[in-house]
Amino acid sequence: MRIAIVGATGIVGEMFLRLLEERDFPVTEIIPYASSRSAGETVSFRNEKYPVRDLSPENIEPCELALFSAGADTAMQWARRFVDMGALVVDNSSAFRAIDDVPLVVPEVNPEAIILHKGIIANPNCSTIGLVAVVYPLHHRFNLKSMVITSFQSVSGAGRTALAELQSQIENPSVPAKTFPRRIADNCIPQIGDFLLDGETEEERKFRDESRKIMNAPGIEVAAAAVRVPIKIGHSLSLHARFQKPVTPDEAKNTLANAPGVKLLPENNAYPTPLEAAGRDEIFVGRIRSAQGFANSLNLWIVLDNLRKGAAANAVKIAEFALLDRNWW
Ligand SMILES: NC(=O)c1ccc[n+]([C@@H]2O[C@H](COP(=O)([O-])OP(=O)(O)OC[C@H]3O[C@@H](n4cnc5c(N)ncnc54)[C@H](OP(=O)(O)O)[C@@H]3O)[C@@H](O)[C@H]2O)c1
Repeated sequence: MRIAIVGATGIVGEMFLRLLEERDFPVTEIIPYASSRSAGETVSFRNEKYPVRDLSPENIEPCELALFSAGADTAMQWARRFVDMGALVVDNSSAFRAIDDVPLVVPEVNPEAIILHKGIIANPNCSTIGLVAVVYPLHHRFNLKSMVITSFQSVSGAGRTALAELQSQIENPSVPAKTFPRRIADNCIPQIGDFLLDGETEEERKFRDESRKIMNAPGIEVAAAAVRVPIKIGHSLSLHARFQKPVTPDEAKNTLANAPGVKLLPENNAYPTPLEAAGRDEIFVGRIRSAQGFANSLNLWIVLDNLRKGAAANAVKIAEFALLDRNWW
């Protein structure tokens, strides 16, 4: 297959290239795109160098698959052109996630939505992917009623420039905040994305809108606080989940022991951390315990690599499912 990588110079774009190699995707040619800033640079794939092209009308060529990770504005402007030239587009941005006839997919949760696509499939927000992969099997058995989430999100979630900003602030405390609203080194920032009129941030709203759509559960109550923390890779979530049916920690562990894509740490008091999840495609869950004083409720701790399962690995698995009919779980 000829595969376009749109945003190939970004950290998710680079991860796309590594995952297509690792997963032995049947690639005949890579066509990397980025902004005019990167035109002329090269990216490597299977020991070959490919020149990066400016995303412009004369540079677009037909391909079977276009993996987009270049932000919502770029996706809005360019994704349908690739579809018109015959490509399946899997987009990592928020551009199409809320559109009714665009499937929003975590393959471990709603693979059936993939076949409904009309050329574009949306990859969910990185933290939401970790959330629904764990909570959906529990919902299936115990009927989820509500979720309260606090997320601790790494700096790489905001892209290459953000990582460079953290590094330079670690080396020199006087480097001012540019990508984030405050200095991120030695800090944590309870704002990811812009504030909405009701005081939520965009990131907090995504937890509700996207989890409801993926799980096809519009009535679930969701409240979130999304916090940026000064670590490089790995998003962590503290989840309080309330169910309609009674549930014990052991019953939840039995359910999650076989959940696709989920790595359960079943021992009492065991928990994953971002350092252990980095470089892995599983979504890790531990510290499953009753929420004392709350009926039918559990507290859980979830961690995932935001660049792999939170972005590129989820998108590549969607493409494998859609185009290769690969059964990988
Ligand atoms: N990082 C994560 O954990 C994560 C997780 C899920 C989803 N996402 C989403 O993935 C997308 C990319 O994220 P990232 O972290 O990889 O960001 P990044 O490191 O900043 O990379 C952005 C990429 O987009 C390209 N780009 C920017 N503006 C463009 C334009 N006008 N035309 C063409 N290409 C353009 C950049 O090219 P230049 O190098 O030329 O600037 C670069 O290749 C975003 O939509 C983000 O929300 C990221």
